[in-house]
Amino acid sequence: MRTTVGIIGAGPAGLLLARLLHRAGIASVVLESRDRAYVEQRQRAGILEQDTVDVLRAAGAGERMDREGLRHDGIELRFDGRRHRVDFPGLTGGRAVTVYAQTEVCKDLVALQLEEGGPLLFEAEALAVEGAETGTPRVRFRHEGREDVLECDYVAGCDGFWGVARKAVPAALSRVFERTYPFGWLGILADVAPSHDELVYARHDRGFALLSMRSPTVSRLYLQVPTETDAADWSDEAIWDELERRLATEDDWRLERGPVTQKSVTPMRSFVHEPMRHGRLFLAGDAAHIVPPTGAKGLNLAVGDVVTLARALVHRRDTGSEELLDSYSETCLRRVWQAERFSYDMTTLLHPAPGATPFEDRLQVARLDRIATSRAARTDLAEAYTGFPLD
Ligand code: FAD
Ligand code: DHB
Repeated sequence: MRTTVGIIGAGPAGLLLARLLHRAGIASVVLESRDRAYVEQRQRAGILEQDTVDVLRAAGAGERMDREGLRHDGIELRFDGRRHRVDFPGLTGGRAVTVYAQTEVCKDLVALQLEEGGPLLFEAEALAVEGAETGTPRVRFRHEGREDVLECDYVAGCDGFWGVARKAVPAALSRVFERTYPFGWLGILADVAPSHDELVYARHDRGFALLSMRSPTVSRLYLQVPTETDAADWSDEAIWDELERRLATEDDWRLERGPVTQKSVTPMRSFVHEPMRHGRLFLAGDAAHIVPPTGAKGLNLAVGDVVTLARALVHRRDTGSEELLDSYSETCLRRVWQAERFSYDMTTLLHPAPGATPFEDRLQVARLDRIATSRAARTDLAEAYTGFPLD
């Protein structure tokens, strides 16, 4: 099998890259190790930055998002039982975010790819990327019980944190920057209308809680839990009780309960692999970097990477110049590190660490108080939350 760009992984990064290349007339093949249902149903991100929305729209993948996505003009920060709104458009010159789940973005992109795009092979597991330093890189993969080779001009490693693409970068050239956190998120989906019309980020001495949503009738909620937590150890009632404690306010706000339809624990990690390019192999999305979920940057970063990569590949085809391919890693990493910084700041702002001293607890509240009372501090948060502009 032969193509121009071999794409490993049909998450948001791989699917959007295939779409952008198709629109530009560049051929690609997408290899995805899991089946279609898995890709379309895996619960993950829910918040799209303004630029992500614009990119999906421009790629012809925004029709359902425009109909069903919920524009959010702010978030609420809760601490010490008090509520403080951060108004995005007022602080950023009109920017906002959109609630539209990753599952829906993937469904839309899969449908478009199968209708209009190049091959998208499910249950096709990439085994290794070979010859990245040569002019003819290859992806060895297994599909329908047989091993095969995809020969390409370029390979895009969009295969997430656990993928194989990153392993093709020689250890001597790799630099890894990493931090793990001593807590994770227990997340639930529930068939109940969200109890607030905007997201609520709550700091409580018992731990962080987040009220989010997927639609006007489906709530998504998270609790900070110790890393080794098994979701099965938490009954639905215990989860609602704990959410109620951590989200409690001084006023008459109430948390509505409903049937829990999904429950899982997500670990928290910060991770950056540099460089994001080796020869003709380009890493994009979670294959190159992970942020802790607080602040909802993961999916949006993946979009930024593939927009940069698609642009560079089109530039190469149109002008013969490798300039943008050469600067790919540096361009992406500038944005990646800003998102790493913001996600780290949001995480350490809102999660009391196990064993934190009373001094550290007070500092967290003081940082939150600063955001609540200073327009400059709120502006900094709002600019980062709604997204750093794509170059
Ligand atoms: P992925 O979505 O991981 O896609 C990679 C794809 O590659 C997968 O489909 C995988 O099956 C495939 N693949 C892997 N190995 C191979 C192989 N060898 N061959 C072929 N295919 C392969 N972000 C937020 O903003 N908010 C959240 O609430 C949030 N929650 C998350 C919860 C979890 C459990 C995780 C893991 C991440 C979460 N994220 C969240 C992050 C966000 O979902 C990711 O940043 C986003 O999915 C990145 O997209 P991607 O395409 O780079 O990688
Ligand atoms: C969601 C996830 C986040 O990490 C976040 O900061 C906001 C919302 C969500 O899954 O809805």
